[in-house]
Amino acid sequence: MVDFLILGASGFLGTELARRAGGSVELAARSGLRGATPMSTVRLHAWDAERPGATCELLSRVRPRHVLNAAALSSLAGCERDPERARLLNSDLPAELAELGLEFGFRLLHVSTDLVFGASPPSGVRYLETDPPSPMSVYGESKARGEQRVLARSPGALVVRLPLLVGDSHGSGRGGSDSLIAAIDAGEEVTLFEDEWRTPLDVGIAADACLEAIRLGVSGLLHIAGPERLSRFELGVRVLGARAGAVRRGRRADLGLERLRPRDVSLDTGLARSILTSPLSSGLGQDDAEL
Ligand SMILES: NC(=O)c1ccc[n+]([C@@H]2O[C@H](COP(=O)([O-])OP(=O)(O)OC[C@H]3O[C@@H](n4cnc5c(N)ncnc54)[C@H](OP(=O)(O)O)[C@@H]3O)[C@@H](O)[C@H]2O)c1
Repeated sequence: MVDFLILGASGFLGTELARRAGGSVELAARSGLRGATPMSTVRLHAWDAERPGATCELLSRVRPRHVLNAAALSSLAGCERDPERARLLNSDLPAELAELGLEFGFRLLHVSTDLVFGASPPSGVRYLETDPPSPMSVYGESKARGEQRVLARSPGALVVRLPLLVGDSHGSGRGGSDSLIAAIDAGEEVTLFEDEWRTPLDVGIAADACLEAIRLGVSGLLHIAGPERLSRFELGVRVLGARAGAVRRGRRADLGLERLRPRDVSLDTGLARSILTSPLSSGLGQDDAEL
């Protein structure tokens, strides 16, 4: 029997889940993989979640024990441009997966985001799993709706909220650090905000923690994030080192982005730290003291 079926296996996170899952793994992607996954050991299914019936067909063919859903419309701007597609991929797809999980007997790990928060402040210092979502964007709204529908339909499912992901994108220029490096390498003018805070986490560390949580049988909502609260500018300095001199400091108001982008969506990870043995360091170095 297939242990893990990974949906969105070509994505930034999906690639790492595929590389690290181990055991009997099959992958599903819309337009092939991006070359970082050792394909000798895994089977790849062509799957377009927007084609009616495609997800049910895939699941009835593979019959996995676990489904890891890393497929999404993940760009903030893309969701603003196409709210219908955001609804389909970020809300309807996870709801359908929860339903199919009950029918076919697989456990679902659905990946969500810190951007379900932002409009209302956290009850404590950082957002807890028990804080109500307060999204500010089409992306955040569609993801909040998706996680709510998964948990309402399937209480045994696991919904992991992740923060801004950084780390190796295997040359694809994706994620919070490689996109920055690619922009600097291309000679672009980069402005990084001093007034926007995140709890960034390395994509590989995030994948390992997700895999540990699903293997342990954790259900419900779980925040998996890095230990440090860093501004975008501080993150840029960590990622770029000596080249950070090429970056301009800015404030969100300068670019009129306050309406869409939350100021601070730092996640509290006390629950994850009490359950998981995976080290939730950011992967950016210098943060061990925070653990
Ligand atoms: N990256 C972050 O910083 C971050 C932070 C917090 C949460 N998350 C969450 O983590 C998850 C993965 O994000 P990511 O950064 O890995 O996103 P990504 O790199 O954009 O990957 C998204 C995946 O979804 C697939 N997809 C899109 N439309 C599809 C369709 N119609 N049918 C089948 N597959 C489709 C993409 O396939 P193609 O390659 O063919 O387009 C890709 O494999 C998402 O749920 C996101 O909300 C990400």
